[in-house]
Amino acid sequence: MTQVLCVAGARPNFMKIAPVMAALADTGIAAQLLHTGQHYDAAMSDSFFSDLGIPPPDHHLEVGSGSHAVQTAEVMRRFEPVLDRVQPRAVLVVGDVNSTIACALVAAKRGVRVIHVEAGLRSYDRSMPEEINRVLTDQISDLLFITEKSALANLAREGIDPARVEFVGNVMIDTLYRNLERAVPASRTLGGALPEYAVLTLHRPSNVDDPATLAALLGVVGEISRTLPVVMPLHPRTRGSIEKFGLSDGLDGLHVLPPVGYLEMLGLMRDARLVLTDSGGIQEETTALGVPCLTLRENTERPITLDEGTNTLVGASPDAIRAAFEDVMGGGGKAGRIPEYWDGRAAMRIAHTLQGWLPAVKGVRALSATRAA
Ligand code: UD1
Repeated sequence: MTQVLCVAGARPNFMKIAPVMAALADTGIAAQLLHTGQHYDAAMSDSFFSDLGIPPPDHHLEVGSGSHAVQTAEVMRRFEPVLDRVQPRAVLVVGDVNSTIACALVAAKRGVRVIHVEAGLRSYDRSMPEEINRVLTDQISDLLFITEKSALANLAREGIDPARVEFVGNVMIDTLYRNLERAVPASRTLGGALPEYAVLTLHRPSNVDDPATLAALLGVVGEISRTLPVVMPLHPRTRGSIEKFGLSDGLDGLHVLPPVGYLEMLGLMRDARLVLTDSGGIQEETTALGVPCLTLRENTERPITLDEGTNTLVGASPDAIRAAFEDVMGGGGKAGRIPEYWDGRAAMRIAHTLQGWLPAVKGVRALSATRAA
Protein backbone atom coordinates (compact mmCIF):
# COMPACT_ATOMS: atom_id res chain seq x y z
CA MET A 1 0.00 0.00 0.00
CA THR A 2 1.30 3.43 -0.95
CA GLN A 3 1.73 5.50 2.16
CA VAL A 4 2.81 8.82 0.65
CA LEU A 5 1.93 10.23 -2.76
CA CYS A 6 4.59 12.84 -3.56
CA VAL A 7 3.85 15.67 -5.99
CA ALA A 8 6.19 17.65 -8.24
CA GLY A 9 5.26 19.82 -11.19
CA ALA A 10 7.64 22.65 -11.96
CA ARG A 11 11.40 23.07 -12.21
CA PRO A 12 11.98 24.30 -8.63
CA ASN A 13 10.10 21.27 -7.27
CA PHE A 14 12.37 18.64 -8.74
CA MET A 15 15.50 19.36 -6.68
CA LYS A 16 13.30 19.34 -3.56
CA ILE A 17 11.49 16.09 -4.28
CA ALA A 18 14.70 14.19 -5.20
CA PRO A 19 16.14 13.84 -1.67
CA VAL A 20 12.67 13.31 -0.17
CA MET A 21 12.01 10.35 -2.49
CA ALA A 22 15.47 8.94 -1.69
CA ALA A 23 14.98 9.31 2.08
CA LEU A 24 11.52 7.70 1.97
CA ALA A 25 13.00 4.75 0.06
CA ASP A 26 15.90 4.47 2.53
CA THR A 27 13.54 4.36 5.49
CA GLY A 28 11.17 1.85 3.89
CA ILE A 29 8.22 4.21 3.47
CA ALA A 30 6.23 3.19 0.38
CA ALA A 31 5.93 6.26 -1.84
CA GLN A 32 4.80 7.09 -5.34
CA LEU A 33 5.67 10.15 -7.41
CA LEU A 34 3.20 12.20 -9.41
CA HIS A 35 4.31 14.78 -12.02
CA THR A 36 1.61 17.32 -12.86
CA GLY A 37 3.32 18.40 -16.10
CA GLN A 38 3.19 22.11 -15.17
CA HIS A 39 6.68 22.25 -16.69
CA TYR A 40 7.13 20.01 -19.70
CA ASP A 41 10.10 21.12 -21.85
CA ALA A 42 12.95 18.61 -21.59
CA ALA A 43 15.23 21.36 -20.26
CA MET A 44 12.68 22.39 -17.59
CA SER A 45 11.75 18.88 -16.46
CA ASP A 46 13.26 15.65 -17.89
CA SER A 47 16.87 16.78 -17.49
CA PHE A 48 16.29 17.15 -13.73
CA PHE A 49 15.00 13.60 -13.46
CA SER A 50 18.07 12.21 -15.20
CA ASP A 51 20.63 14.54 -13.53
CA LEU A 52 19.25 13.95 -10.04
CA GLY A 53 18.35 10.27 -10.37
CA ILE A 54 14.67 10.89 -9.58
CA PRO A 55 12.63 7.75 -10.30
CA PRO A 56 10.29 8.13 -13.28
CA PRO A 57 6.90 9.40 -12.11
CA ASP A 58 4.28 6.76 -11.35
CA HIS A 59 1.62 9.20 -12.59
CA HIS A 60 1.82 12.05 -15.10
CA LEU A 61 -1.02 14.56 -15.44
CA GLU A 62 0.41 16.42 -18.47
CA VAL A 63 -1.40 19.67 -17.66
CA GLY A 64 0.99 22.07 -19.46
CA SER A 65 0.71 25.86 -19.42
CA GLY A 66 -2.32 28.08 -18.99
CA SER A 67 -3.67 30.98 -16.96
CA HIS A 68 -3.44 30.48 -13.21
CA ALA A 69 -7.08 29.44 -13.04
CA VAL A 70 -6.85 27.02 -15.95
CA GLN A 71 -3.56 25.48 -14.85
CA THR A 72 -4.63 25.09 -11.20
CA ALA A 73 -8.05 23.74 -12.15
CA GLU A 74 -6.60 21.29 -14.67
CA VAL A 75 -4.21 19.87 -12.05
CA MET A 76 -7.11 19.50 -9.60
CA ARG A 77 -9.40 17.85 -12.13
CA ARG A 78 -6.76 15.33 -13.23
CA PHE A 79 -5.33 14.71 -9.74
CA GLU A 80 -8.56 13.68 -8.02
CA PRO A 81 -9.08 10.33 -9.81
CA VAL A 82 -5.43 9.39 -9.26
CA LEU A 83 -5.75 10.15 -5.56
CA ASP A 84 -8.91 8.04 -5.36
CA ARG A 85 -7.14 5.15 -7.05
CA VAL A 86 -3.92 5.27 -5.04
CA GLN A 87 -5.52 6.00 -1.65
CA PRO A 88 -2.33 7.07 0.12
CA ARG A 89 -2.24 7.93 3.79
CA ALA A 90 -0.87 11.35 2.89
CA VAL A 91 -0.04 13.62 -0.03
CA LEU A 92 3.32 15.38 0.15
CA VAL A 93 3.74 18.68 -1.70
CA VAL A 94 6.82 20.92 -1.93
CA GLY A 95 7.35 24.63 -2.50
CA ASP A 96 4.84 27.16 -3.71
CA VAL A 97 3.91 26.62 -7.34
CA ASN A 98 0.41 26.17 -8.74
CA SER A 99 0.79 22.38 -8.64
CA THR A 100 1.47 22.63 -4.88
CA ILE A 101 -1.80 24.32 -3.93
CA ALA A 102 -3.83 22.41 -6.52
CA CYS A 103 -2.90 18.96 -5.19
CA ALA A 104 -3.01 20.04 -1.54
CA LEU A 105 -6.53 21.36 -2.04
CA VAL A 106 -7.80 18.19 -3.71
CA ALA A 107 -6.28 16.04 -0.95
CA ALA A 108 -7.68 18.17 1.87
CA LYS A 109 -11.17 18.08 0.36
CA ARG A 110 -10.93 14.29 0.09
CA GLY A 111 -9.91 14.06 3.75
CA VAL A 112 -6.38 12.90 2.88
CA ARG A 113 -3.63 14.32 5.11
CA VAL A 114 -1.36 16.94 3.53
CA ILE A 115 2.35 17.29 4.23
CA HIS A 116 4.00 20.55 3.09
CA VAL A 117 7.76 20.68 2.65
CA GLU A 118 9.17 24.24 2.66
CA ALA A 119 6.21 25.62 4.61
CA GLY A 120 5.86 28.99 6.31
CA LEU A 121 7.93 31.22 4.01
CA ARG A 122 6.30 34.62 3.51
CA SER A 123 7.15 37.61 1.34
CA TYR A 124 4.04 39.43 2.64
CA ASP A 125 3.47 40.44 -0.97
CA ARG A 126 0.16 39.10 -2.22
CA SER A 127 0.86 40.33 -5.74
CA MET A 128 3.13 37.27 -6.03
CA PRO A 129 1.12 34.22 -7.12
CA GLU A 130 3.46 32.05 -5.04
CA GLU A 131 2.55 33.95 -1.85
CA ILE A 132 -1.11 33.04 -2.30
CA ASN A 133 -0.10 29.42 -2.93
CA ARG A 134 2.03 29.41 0.25
CA VAL A 135 -0.60 30.86 2.56
CA LEU A 136 -3.37 28.59 1.32
CA THR A 137 -1.29 25.41 1.24
CA ASP A 138 -0.12 25.95 4.81
CA GLN A 139 -3.69 26.54 6.01
CA ILE A 140 -4.79 23.10 4.80
CA SER A 141 -1.63 21.15 5.69
CA ASP A 142 -1.51 18.68 8.56
CA LEU A 143 2.26 18.53 8.87
CA LEU A 144 4.49 21.47 7.98
CA PHE A 145 8.26 21.14 7.50
CA ILE A 146 10.16 24.42 7.59
CA THR A 147 13.57 25.47 6.27
CA GLU A 148 14.25 28.44 8.55
CA LYS A 149 12.92 29.62 11.89
CA SER A 150 11.28 32.79 10.54
CA ALA A 151 8.59 30.42 9.26
CA LEU A 152 7.57 29.55 12.83
CA ALA A 153 6.51 33.11 13.57
CA ASN A 154 4.80 33.46 10.18
CA LEU A 155 2.72 30.34 10.77
CA ALA A 156 1.89 31.26 14.37
CA ARG A 157 0.58 34.62 13.12
CA GLU A 158 -1.80 32.73 10.83
CA GLY A 159 -3.10 30.59 13.68
CA ILE A 160 -1.33 27.36 12.76
CA ASP A 161 -0.71 25.07 15.71
CA PRO A 162 3.07 24.89 16.34
CA ALA A 163 2.65 21.20 17.18
CA ARG A 164 2.14 20.59 13.46
CA VAL A 165 5.32 22.45 12.48
CA GLU A 166 8.83 20.99 12.45
CA PHE A 167 12.12 22.72 11.64
CA VAL A 168 14.09 20.26 9.52
CA GLY A 169 16.31 22.43 7.31
CA ASN A 170 16.40 22.73 3.55
CA VAL A 171 15.91 19.75 1.24
CA MET A 172 17.07 21.79 -1.77
CA ILE A 173 20.42 22.20 -0.04
CA ASP A 174 20.54 18.42 0.52
CA THR A 175 20.50 18.14 -3.27
CA LEU A 176 23.14 20.85 -3.66
CA TYR A 177 25.64 19.13 -1.36
CA ARG A 178 24.92 15.75 -2.87
CA ASN A 179 25.73 17.00 -6.37
CA LEU A 180 28.41 19.63 -5.87
CA GLU A 181 31.22 17.34 -6.95
CA ARG A 182 29.32 16.47 -10.13
CA ALA A 183 28.68 20.13 -11.04
CA VAL A 184 29.62 20.88 -14.64
CA PRO A 185 32.49 23.41 -14.68
CA ALA A 186 31.39 26.77 -16.05
CA SER A 187 34.11 26.65 -18.71
CA ARG A 188 32.44 23.58 -20.23
CA THR A 189 28.94 25.08 -20.21
CA LEU A 190 30.26 28.31 -21.71
CA GLY A 191 32.45 26.56 -24.30
CA GLY A 192 35.58 28.22 -22.93
CA ALA A 193 36.81 29.81 -19.72
CA LEU A 194 35.79 33.32 -18.69
CA PRO A 195 38.15 34.75 -16.06
CA GLU A 196 35.29 36.29 -14.10
CA TYR A 197 31.59 36.57 -14.82
CA ALA A 198 28.16 37.18 -13.29
CA VAL A 199 25.14 34.89 -13.63
CA LEU A 200 21.75 36.48 -14.18
CA THR A 201 18.34 34.80 -13.96
CA LEU A 202 15.04 36.61 -14.43
CA HIS A 203 11.56 35.11 -14.61
CA ARG A 204 9.27 36.72 -12.00
CA PRO A 205 6.14 38.19 -13.58
CA SER A 206 6.82 41.47 -11.70
CA ASN A 207 10.13 41.80 -13.60
CA VAL A 208 9.41 40.28 -16.99
CA ASP A 209 5.70 40.80 -17.75
CA ASP A 210 5.91 44.62 -17.98
CA PRO A 211 7.82 46.04 -20.99
CA ALA A 212 9.21 49.15 -19.22
CA THR A 213 10.47 47.17 -16.21
CA LEU A 214 12.06 44.50 -18.37
CA ALA A 215 13.68 47.09 -20.69
CA ALA A 216 15.15 48.95 -17.69
CA LEU A 217 16.52 45.73 -16.23
CA LEU A 218 18.13 44.67 -19.51
CA GLY A 219 19.55 48.19 -19.82
CA VAL A 220 21.40 48.10 -16.52
CA VAL A 221 22.52 44.52 -17.08
CA GLY A 222 23.93 45.63 -20.44
CA GLU A 223 25.96 48.30 -18.61
CA ILE A 224 27.22 45.75 -16.08
CA SER A 225 28.27 43.41 -18.87
CA ARG A 226 30.75 46.00 -20.11
CA THR A 227 32.64 45.58 -16.80
CA LEU A 228 31.92 41.92 -16.03
CA PRO A 229 30.60 39.37 -18.57
CA VAL A 230 27.01 38.38 -17.78
CA VAL A 231 25.80 34.81 -18.37
CA MET A 232 22.01 34.54 -18.65
CA PRO A 233 20.19 31.19 -18.88
CA LEU A 234 16.90 32.37 -20.35
CA HIS A 235 13.60 31.17 -18.83
CA PRO A 236 10.85 30.48 -21.41
CA ARG A 237 8.58 33.11 -19.83
CA THR A 238 11.33 35.73 -20.15
CA ARG A 239 12.21 34.71 -23.69
CA GLY A 240 8.53 35.06 -24.58
CA SER A 241 8.34 38.56 -23.08
CA ILE A 242 11.53 39.72 -24.78
CA GLU A 243 10.19 38.61 -28.15
CA LYS A 244 6.72 40.04 -27.54
CA PHE A 245 8.05 43.44 -26.46
CA GLY A 246 10.72 43.62 -29.18
CA LEU A 247 13.56 43.82 -26.64
CA SER A 248 15.94 41.32 -28.25
CA ASP A 249 18.59 44.06 -28.71
CA GLY A 250 18.81 44.16 -24.91
CA LEU A 251 20.45 40.73 -25.02
CA ASP A 252 23.34 41.95 -27.20
CA GLY A 253 26.58 41.57 -25.33
CA LEU A 254 25.17 39.01 -22.84
CA HIS A 255 26.08 35.32 -22.89
CA VAL A 256 22.55 34.03 -23.37
CA LEU A 257 21.96 30.30 -22.84
CA PRO A 258 18.82 28.18 -23.12
CA PRO A 259 17.51 26.92 -19.74
CA VAL A 260 20.40 24.87 -18.34
CA GLY A 261 20.29 21.60 -16.42
CA TYR A 262 20.79 21.34 -12.67
CA LEU A 263 24.46 20.33 -12.82
CA GLU A 264 25.28 23.09 -15.32
CA MET A 265 23.52 25.72 -13.20
CA LEU A 266 25.28 24.53 -10.08
CA GLY A 267 28.65 24.89 -11.81
CA LEU A 268 27.76 28.30 -13.23
CA MET A 269 26.78 29.61 -9.77
CA ARG A 270 29.71 28.03 -7.94
CA ASP A 271 32.28 29.55 -10.29
CA ALA A 272 30.62 33.00 -10.57
CA ARG A 273 31.90 36.28 -9.13
CA LEU A 274 28.31 37.12 -8.25
CA VAL A 275 24.74 36.17 -9.09
CA LEU A 276 21.86 38.50 -9.93
CA THR A 277 18.44 36.88 -9.65
CA ASP A 278 14.76 37.13 -8.89
CA SER A 279 14.48 33.41 -8.10
CA GLY A 280 13.65 32.19 -4.61
CA GLY A 281 15.75 29.03 -4.72
CA ILE A 282 18.86 30.71 -6.09
CA GLN A 283 18.94 33.05 -3.09
CA GLU A 284 19.34 29.94 -0.96
CA GLU A 285 21.73 28.09 -3.25
CA THR A 286 24.13 31.06 -3.43
CA THR A 287 24.07 31.27 0.38
CA ALA A 288 25.03 27.59 0.57
CA LEU A 289 27.78 28.15 -2.02
CA GLY A 290 29.10 31.34 -0.37
CA VAL A 291 28.66 33.35 -3.59
CA PRO A 292 27.35 36.95 -3.34
CA CYS A 293 23.75 37.25 -4.54
CA LEU A 294 21.93 40.44 -5.54
CA THR A 295 18.18 39.83 -5.47
CA LEU A 296 16.29 41.93 -7.98
CA ARG A 297 13.05 42.05 -5.98
CA GLU A 298 11.55 44.36 -3.37
CA ASN A 299 11.08 41.57 -0.81
CA THR A 300 12.10 38.04 -0.02
CA GLU A 301 10.32 35.16 1.68
CA ARG A 302 13.74 33.78 2.63
CA PRO A 303 15.07 36.34 5.15
CA ILE A 304 17.73 34.04 6.54
CA THR A 305 19.66 34.49 3.29
CA LEU A 306 19.86 38.21 4.14
CA ASP A 307 20.56 37.81 7.87
CA GLU A 308 23.07 34.98 7.69
CA GLY A 309 23.77 34.28 4.03
CA THR A 310 25.27 36.08 1.05
CA ASN A 311 22.08 37.69 -0.22
CA THR A 312 21.37 41.42 -0.60
CA LEU A 313 17.89 42.67 -1.42
CA VAL A 314 18.37 45.23 -4.17
CA GLY A 315 15.01 45.70 -5.89
CA ALA A 316 14.55 46.34 -9.59
CA SER A 317 15.62 49.98 -9.91
CA PRO A 318 18.65 50.43 -12.21
CA ASP A 319 20.36 52.87 -9.78
CA ALA A 320 20.10 50.41 -6.90
CA ILE A 321 21.36 47.54 -9.05
CA ARG A 322 24.30 49.59 -10.34
CA ALA A 323 25.26 50.65 -6.79
CA ALA A 324 25.00 47.11 -5.39
CA PHE A 325 27.06 45.73 -8.27
CA GLU A 326 29.80 48.31 -7.71
CA ASP A 327 29.80 47.50 -4.03
CA VAL A 328 30.40 43.79 -4.68
CA MET A 329 33.10 44.54 -7.26
CA GLY A 330 34.77 46.80 -4.68
CA GLY A 331 34.96 43.87 -2.25
CA GLY A 332 31.70 44.54 -0.38
CA GLY A 333 30.04 41.19 -1.20
CA LYS A 334 28.75 39.34 1.86
CA ALA A 335 30.73 36.29 3.00
CA GLY A 336 27.84 34.81 4.99
CA ARG A 337 27.59 31.53 6.86
CA ILE A 338 25.58 28.35 6.38
CA PRO A 339 22.21 28.53 8.19
CA GLU A 340 21.26 26.03 10.87
CA TYR A 341 20.25 22.58 9.56
CA TRP A 342 21.27 23.37 5.98
CA ASP A 343 23.50 20.36 6.41
CA GLY A 344 22.39 17.84 3.78
CA ARG A 345 20.18 15.87 6.18
CA ALA A 346 16.83 17.68 5.95
CA ALA A 347 15.10 14.95 3.92
CA MET A 348 16.26 12.28 6.35
CA ARG A 349 14.77 14.29 9.24
CA ILE A 350 11.48 14.41 7.33
CA ALA A 351 11.52 10.65 6.70
CA HIS A 352 12.24 9.90 10.36
CA THR A 353 9.34 12.08 11.47
CA LEU A 354 7.06 10.35 8.95
CA GLN A 355 8.06 6.93 10.28
CA GLY A 356 6.45 7.92 13.57
CA TRP A 357 3.59 10.00 12.15
CA LEU A 358 2.19 7.85 9.32
CA PRO A 359 1.14 4.83 11.41
CA ALA A 360 -1.05 7.13 13.49
CA VAL A 361 -2.99 8.25 10.38
CA LYS A 362 -6.08 6.09 10.32
CA GLY A 363 -7.67 6.32 6.88
CA VAL A 364 -9.13 9.50 5.51
CA ARG A 365 -10.57 12.23 7.68
CA ALA A 366 -14.36 12.09 7.88
CA LEU A 367 -15.96 14.73 5.68
CA SER A 368 -19.53 15.94 5.80
CA ALA A 369 -19.97 15.02 2.12
CA THR A 370 -17.80 13.43 -0.54
CA ARG A 371 -19.62 15.34 -3.26
CA ALA A 372 -19.77 19.11 -3.31
CA ALA A 373 -23.45 19.10 -4.17
C1 UD1 B 1 6.54 28.75 -12.32
C2 UD1 B 1 6.12 29.02 -10.86
C3 UD1 B 1 7.18 29.87 -10.18
C4 UD1 B 1 8.56 29.25 -10.34
C5 UD1 B 1 8.83 29.01 -11.82
C6 UD1 B 1 10.19 28.40 -12.06
C7 UD1 B 1 3.70 29.25 -10.40
C8 UD1 B 1 2.62 30.21 -10.11
N1 UD1 B 1 4.86 29.78 -10.80
O1 UD1 B 1 6.57 29.98 -13.01
O2 UD1 B 1 6.87 29.96 -8.81
O3 UD1 B 1 9.52 30.12 -9.79
O4 UD1 B 1 7.81 28.14 -12.33
O5 UD1 B 1 10.41 28.19 -13.41
O6 UD1 B 1 3.52 28.07 -10.25
N2 UD1 B 1 6.88 27.39 -20.46
C9 UD1 B 1 7.54 26.68 -21.42
N3 UD1 B 1 7.98 25.43 -21.11
C10 UD1 B 1 7.78 24.85 -19.90
C11 UD1 B 1 7.08 25.59 -18.93
C12 UD1 B 1 6.64 26.84 -19.22
O7 UD1 B 1 7.76 27.16 -22.52
O8 UD1 B 1 8.21 23.69 -19.69
C13 UD1 B 1 6.44 28.76 -20.77
C14 UD1 B 1 5.01 28.85 -21.21
O9 UD1 B 1 4.91 29.83 -22.17
C15 UD1 B 1 4.29 29.32 -19.96
C16 UD1 B 1 5.35 30.19 -19.29
O10 UD1 B 1 6.59 29.56 -19.62
O11 UD1 B 1 3.12 29.99 -20.26
C17 UD1 B 1 5.20 30.28 -17.82
O12 UD1 B 1 5.13 28.97 -17.22
P1 UD1 B 1 4.31 28.74 -15.84
O13 UD1 B 1 4.46 27.35 -15.38
O14 UD1 B 1 2.94 29.29 -16.00
O15 UD1 B 1 5.02 29.73 -14.85
P2 UD1 B 1 6.57 30.02 -14.58
O16 UD1 B 1 6.83 31.42 -14.99
O17 UD1 B 1 7.44 28.96 -15.16
